[in-house]
Amino acid sequence: AGEISPPDRAPVGVIGGSGFYEFLDDVAEVTVDTPYGRPSDSLSVGSLAGRPVVFLPRHGRRHTLPPHRINYRANLWALRALGVRQVLAPGAVGGLRPELGPGTLVVPDQLVDRTSGREQTYFDGQPGPDGQLPQVVHVPFADPYCPVGRATVLDAARNTGWQPVDGGTMVVIEGPRFSTRAESLWHGQMGWSVVGMTGHPEAVLARELALCYTALSLVTDLDSGVEVGHGVTQQEVFTVFARNVDRLRVLLGDAVRTLPADQGVCPCGQALAGTPS
Ligand code: ADE
Repeated sequence: AGEISPPDRAPVGVIGGSGFYEFLDDVAEVTVDTPYGRPSDSLSVGSLAGRPVVFLPRHGRRHTLPPHRINYRANLWALRALGVRQVLAPGAVGGLRPELGPGTLVVPDQLVDRTSGREQTYFDGQPGPDGQLPQVVHVPFADPYCPVGRATVLDAARNTGWQPVDGGTMVVIEGPRFSTRAESLWHGQMGWSVVGMTGHPEAVLARELALCYTALSLVTDLDSGVEVGHGVTQQEVFTVFARNVDRLRVLLGDAVRTLPADQGVCPCGQALAGTPS
């Protein structure tokens, strides 16, 4: 992506579902092309709580991209090209325990990747499209989320009157189907908290770009292994997410207001230290 001039740059990026456009003021649409192709949609650059913020709808503006078709590499690359250093990533998830019912906000601290076949690295064993990236890189991913971002989001959630769940494991399935009861039971028995379809490879690609990345997992349903009965439906997911969008918007405003201006306290910005250059 080309260089963007300072007024169009923003240090905080939000990747989210529909319903998040209006929370930015003074929005300008920016179309970004990347060496990895097109992001899910044009990006909205605007301000929130007096700070510049970029928003990208993960599934496209009209929700046309299923989780396995999202160009995660292009999405993260585009955010970085617009100056983003801290990514806040809300997403709908299913709860894997009875106490994690619809409307619960989980700020996970761990992730299990059960996706398959998704491009999950920028370092593909060949020179990068810009000719500059090293060829083989193994980034540290023991702690997939930014500790500062997590603490900020948890505080913001509490300020917003939410009682967020601090920590837990998000298992990311390939989808687009929901889990069978057996799969869901297994996920719960492993001690994992929530299940989603888009949390990976988003998190690792952010790490490869040395970005801070924080997942905000909004529980929209109890997954099929927990709830005896019909199991989860797509309609349920959309309805519950929509019901919570206003709260999420207030929370994000508070988080953006209090996020530190620079990376530095957390290790995220150093993710490529010690790799070949
Ligand atoms: N997203 C929202 N609910 C989900 C579920 N039950 N399983 C996977 N992804 C989800």
